[in-house]
Formats: sequence, C-alpha cells, structure tokens
Amino acid sequence: MRHFFAFYLAVGSIMTRLVSPIHISSVSESSKLIPKSSLVTNDCFPALGFKTPKQTPHDVELKHWWCDAATEYAFVGFSYEVTACQSAEQLMDEFKDIRENFDSRYVRLYGACDREGFYDDIVNAAWENGLGVHALVWFGFNGDDIWIQRRDTLFASLHSNPKAKFMTRVVQFGSEPLYDNVLPHQQLAEQVELAKANLSSLSIPVTVSELAYGYQERGGAQDVLDAIDSINIHMLPFFSQNASTANQSWPLVLNDLDWFIAHGNGKKMYFDENGWPSVTSPSVQPNSPLAVSNVANEQAYFVLLDQHCEYLKHVVGGGIGWFAHIYSDNQEPGYGIYDSSGKLKFPFHPRTFC
Ligand SMILES: *[C@@H]1O[C@H](CO)[C@@H](O)[C@H](O)[C@H]1NC(C)=O
Ligand SMILES: *[C@@H]1O[C@H](CO)[C@@H](O)[C@H](O)[C@H]1NC(C)=O
Ligand SMILES: *[C@@H]1O[C@H](CO)[C@@H](O)[C@H](O)[C@H]1NC(C)=O
Repeated sequence: MRHFFAFYLAVGSIMTRLVSPIHISSVSESSKLIPKSSLVTNDCFPALGFKTPKQTPHDVELKHWWCDAATEYAFVGFSYEVTACQSAEQLMDEFKDIRENFDSRYVRLYGACDREGFYDDIVNAAWENGLGVHALVWFGFNGDDIWIQRRDTLFASLHSNPKAKFMTRVVQFGSEPLYDNVLPHQQLAEQVELAKANLSSLSIPVTVSELAYGYQERGGAQDVLDAIDSINIHMLPFFSQNASTANQSWPLVLNDLDWFIAHGNGKKMYFDENGWPSVTSPSVQPNSPLAVSNVANEQAYFVLLDQHCEYLKHVVGGGIGWFAHIYSDNQEPGYGIYDSSGKLKFPFHPRTFC
C-alpha cells in the first residue's frame, strides 16, 4: 500500500443503485433448521467443516469442488503479505491459525516472494489447513517488468502442481495497477484476457485487485471491468477526503461499492484489501484532517461490516466477501490484526454468515 495522495478528489456524485440489494430472503423453513453452519452445505471447498481429502482429487472433480460464490459473503479471511518469504513451517503454522482461530476460508496473497517453489509451499499449507488462495501477480512499486517473470513462475506452478488448481480460487493482478498506472488500462485488460486463456484449462478465474478510484482515474477502465471474472475491491475508507472515524465510514464504503454495482455488470465482488489502520506511517497518510487512526477505530471498522452483514450478503453478484487487511503489523504497519510482537490487538471474531 502506498497511499499518500488525495486520491478521492475525482470521485463523482453518488451513483444510483441499479439493483436493490435488499430482497425478501428465499431461505426455506427447512434450511433455517440447519444448526449454526455458515453454509447450507459443507461438502464444497473451502466451506467451514469441509475436510480436504488426503489424495489429490481427479480433475473431473474440479467441477463440483468450489463452493457457490453466493456462499462467499461476510468475513472470508485475511490478506497475507509474503514479501518476507515465510518458510514452509511458518506458512503451515499461520495458515492453521488463520483457519482454526478465525474461521477463515481464504488467504489473499499480497506482495511477492521470488523464492523458487514458494507457491508450492503456499499450496501445501493451504491444502493441509483447508484454505483457498487468492493468488497474486505482484507489480510492486518500481515500475519494472519483474511482474512478467512472476506471472510466468506462478502460471507454471499452477499448471505443474496437481493440487494448485484445487487451492487457487482466483489469480489477481495487483496491487492497484490502475491507481499506480503500471500499464495503460487497455494493456491491463489484454493481460487479463491472456491470463484467462492460459488458466482456462485449470478453471482458474482472473481478476485485478484495485480501488474504485483506480478505475475512475482511468476513465472508468470499463475494458478491465469487463475482462475480469470477479471484482476484487480495495476498500480503504481511511484515505477518503471525508474520513473521520470508522464508525462514520459506512457512507464512504457505500459510495465506492455503489460505483462497482453500477459498472460491474453483476459480477461477484470481494473487499479484498479492506481495513482501517491503528496508526499512520510514511505510506499510510490520511487525506482528511479529521481521520482518526487507533486500535479502537481499526476494530470498529470490522464491527461496522459485521453490522451490515445482511446488506452485504444481498449485494448483486452473490454478496460481498470481505478480507481483513492484514494478518500482522509486520506485514503492513497499523493494519495488522496481530501487533508486531504477535499479540492480538483486539478480539476478532467476525461473522462468516448471517
Ligand atoms: C501459460 O503460461 C506459461 C507461463 O508463461 C507458459 O509456459 C505456458 O505455455 C502457457 N500455457 C498456455 C496454455 O498458454
Ligand atoms: C464528501 O463530502 C462532500 C462535502 O460534504 C460531499 O459533497 C461528498 O458527497 C462526500 N463524499 C462522500 C463519498 O461521502
Ligand atoms: C463505535 O460505535 C459503537 C456503537 O455502535 C461504540 O460502542 C464504539 O465505542 C464506537 N467506536 C469508536 C472507536 O468510536
């Protein structure tokens, strides 16, 4: 994350919601009787309660492998930065923590580790702990071409590791390639199409991890929105020019979400980089003099999302699944659920269904 510009400047007027997200629940009486499961069924990956098989499934099983996207709303997991090139053991321990202590279904990778075989370690840790992965082709902030090599390495691993396609829910291009202007939007859309073609035999979809403002400042980049399979949104209201406290941030969330509802053609949406910082740092600077960063506000932001669980569940495309950005302060100062000494900063038990 590198946010120190007033990037909400150009945000237009509030969009009219095209599809009313609230409708009468179609949950039948009988399904209401199913006790405290987050999902109507847990025989799909990565439902809570699903047991990942010991053996790699046959390719034909891929058809019925993933849970329906409409079950992927509310809290789905953590952003997890890999720039530290965590060891296989650390990945195993932390993915276990992420799954077992927080009821996560996914990790969303952030940053890059260029160690050989690293994505295989991710796949192993995900497999052992029953977590799906939002993989990432990382551009970084240097404006160089290393992302091409990263893309090729990741794709090679997705093709060669027989477990990888069962763990990898989506490949993201990120982070914020439009906001950072790493490629003209036409070329980014073309890269998405090429990636989709490359990964189609594995049934792995492709997305871009981006702010509403990233699209808006590139004329809407409708070609990119049309190309991506799901919309993976950076929801970081602390940077809004109208930011004050997390408790007051719901209109800011809605403002960006409504833009995606209006332009996203009903695609599945995630808040994949999503949170409120407990402190500022050189790369985390507010654009509003009233923006408050402290642990109480970091926590309050996630409570706010929990309070709007029903609303988010019924957003077009199968509801909003949200990630907490980020697992630890060691990964992004101020945004961690854990502080840099490994202590939880606040109790964190977000809803996984409603
Ligand atoms: C997919 O991409 C990899 C890495 O660039 C390449 O080696 C492979 O040939 C591609 N496969 C297809 C089917 O396009
Ligand atoms: C921010 O505040 C200005 C001035 O009050 C208002 O016009 C604008 O709609 C607000 N934007 C959002 C996203 O709330
Ligand atoms: C946010 O609002 C809740 C009440 O809904 C209150 O309990 C909480 O203290 C507030 N948090 C902050 C950080 O102001």
